Amino acid sequence: MILKQFYYKKIKSTNDTALKYISKGVENGIIITDVQTKGKGQIGKKWISLKGNLFMSVFFQLRNKVSIKKITKVNCLLIRNCLQNYTNYEIKVKQPNDLLINNQKICGILQETIYRNKKKFLVVGIGVNINKSPRIDRYQTNFLNFFTKKKVKRLEVFDQLSNIYEKKINQFS
Ligand code: BTN
Repeated sequence: MILKQFYYKKIKSTNDTALKYISKGVENGIIITDVQTKGKGQIGKKWISLKGNLFMSVFFQLRNKVSIKKITKVNCLLIRNCLQNYTNYEIKVKQPNDLLINNQKICGILQETIYRNKKKFLVVGIGVNINKSPRIDRYQTNFLNFFTKKKVKRLEVFDQLSNIYEKKINQFS
């Protein structure tokens, strides 16, 4: 399934924009922005969104009975396997939603669900530190290009992830 792409220079949060599209009746798509001014992390935390990193959200309808726990695992693995193509360092999944190299976080995933007209939708928000690592007190961070031989472009990763979701989306819906 081809997913329509919505590009922004600056928005609060790609997840919030995806939720707004869904509530207006758009059933699937991908949001990308250069900068987030109010990026959201897990459990109400903020996601520091430095320019040069990747901020995107994929949204689509879910089968009502699908298990969110299972979907979380599938999403983490899809994203992990995509990023793994760029580096020889092992990318590990830290349950439930973090991707780490050498114990340093390079990617966070924030899933949100919403109902509209009795249909269930999922937003998968993906933040990949591509070129910069924000300083966080609670854990160590790094960025993908620190671990690559050749510099990876943010939009190249975006295209790869978009292709993967376009191919795999029928697993969910
Ligand atoms: C985490 O806390 O690890 C989850 C971070 C998720 C960040 C991404 S960036 C794109 C999308 N939009 C948001 O506001 N958050 C997610």
